Amino acid sequence: MNPLNGTAHTGPTEPGLPVSPKCRGSWLPYWLLFLGKFLRHGRQIASFVPSSMWLARAVVHGIDFSRTATVVELGAGTGPITAALLRQAPPSCRCVIIERDPDFCRRLRDRFPQADVVEADATDLDSLLKKRGIETVDHFLCGLPLPSFTTEDRDRVLGCVLRRLKPDGTFRQLTHMPWVYQRMYRRYFEEVRFRLVLRNLPPAGFYICRPRLTAQ
Ligand SMILES: C[S@@+](CC[C@H](N)C(=O)[O-])C[C@H]1O[C@@H](n2cnc3c(N)ncnc32)[C@H](O)[C@@H]1O
Repeated sequence: MNPLNGTAHTGPTEPGLPVSPKCRGSWLPYWLLFLGKFLRHGRQIASFVPSSMWLARAVVHGIDFSRTATVVELGAGTGPITAALLRQAPPSCRCVIIERDPDFCRRLRDRFPQADVVEADATDLDSLLKKRGIETVDHFLCGLPLPSFTTEDRDRVLGCVLRRLKPDGTFRQLTHMPWVYQRMYRRYFEEVRFRLVLRNLPPAGFYICRPRLTAQ
């Protein structure tokens, strides 16, 4: 168990998820691998610990999987959000997990052998989806540090999200800086709401962005 954030540890005992034999062995705990990456790559990782299970559950909460055909996760890291997603998603729901770091991808594949883990830069999102024949996406779950992307790269990612997102779909963006970037996301989405999750270190949250206003 991650002593800081309550997330599962080295991987092989995800409740409710298949166990890969490759998971057994002397692994660095996820949180230690994550911390090492943060110390080496800083802004590209943007957090010193993976999201807590409470934050992960909150991000997935409210998705109606009986009406969801495709979910795309961007910037999966060691997979806390992936775990919450795959625990809920039925086999009929296509989940595409995109992560740039090769060590994280290896861990993700070992931890979630059933998942479509794509080692790629999220700025190539359009061609990644095209290659997979994915025209529309119901929900995007995003851990990318978008505020530290160049404007051009951010426009590329969010432009693609807006073209592919279903009208009643959501783009859910993690953040460790509650409310700070609300205005930035409002430039792209009609509706942006923020949910704070205190059970995370540091306290964090996520924006739920929609291409259209809802009547909530
Ligand atoms: C803040 S971490 C989030 C990790 C995980 N989702 C979590 O909640 O713990 C950001 C992740 O985005 C990945 N990332 C950053 N830039 C990326 C890019 N351009 N394309 C794909 N992944 C990227 C990093 O490697 C890192 O794993």
